[in-house]
Amino acid sequence: MVNRSMLLRLLGTLALPLVLAGCGVPLNTSWHGYRTGPATEQSSPTQASGSPGEAPKPAGPDCRKVKCVALTFDDGPGTYTESLLDLLDEHHAKATFFLIGKNVAKHPGIVRDELARGHELGNHTFSHRDLTKMSLAAGQRELRKTDAAIKKATGTEPTLVRPPFGAIPSNLKNSLDVPVALWSVDTLDWQTRDTKKTIKAAEKVAPGSIVLMHDIHESTIKAMPKILVDLQAQGYHFVTVSELIAKPKPGIGYGTGQHPATQK
Ligand code: NI
Repeated sequence: MVNRSMLLRLLGTLALPLVLAGCGVPLNTSWHGYRTGPATEQSSPTQASGSPGEAPKPAGPDCRKVKCVALTFDDGPGTYTESLLDLLDEHHAKATFFLIGKNVAKHPGIVRDELARGHELGNHTFSHRDLTKMSLAAGQRELRKTDAAIKKATGTEPTLVRPPFGAIPSNLKNSLDVPVALWSVDTLDWQTRDTKKTIKAAEKVAPGSIVLMHDIHESTIKAMPKILVDLQAQGYHFVTVSELIAKPKPGIGYGTGQHPATQK
């Protein structure tokens, strides 16, 4: 959730760089996606899906060659999440869920299902408070408690962080061992709670977009069939954020126009 001036700033500066971010970056063949844990150089090769020496299986479509978009859903899991998972399956769509720790504790089975169906899991803090209004230690607790809740539910930890309101102090961001994922297209679904407006907002998608939505609102779930059909008709592949970025690095807020090509 963002205020209006923040939104304008984001929309004004992000659209084009994100187009470049998604598909201009070579897919790193050693990157295996969310199943290998945090996207760091320390990831053990033994955690990867293939055995040592074997050519790794690509995590998804090659976004250098095809149109890709990362659909992301914040603040869940909730009542409507399972029906969203069915819709995504119908379209062979992978998405990224930025989970609130409190809700993970309430619905661990849904989180397991998200992972089992091939989606990426991200950390959206435990109680959805503004991380810029608390100490570094308190912010780290918010994230660690959520990591623990997701680990308890699924046996694995989230591979991305998305701070509530898109706001994170730089000292907290720099202390993370996973990347921060923001967005480039905000559907404002949480504000409008209007299916038609959510569909209209999703028309702003371009190749490489990271789209912000919320799976806790029925109006959003009702918008999804048309959004999926329309984007698929335009040739889009629905990938996770880590598949889109190819190899996201810790300490970077993806969605702000920063991407590997500019962060050597
Ligand atoms: Ni949120």
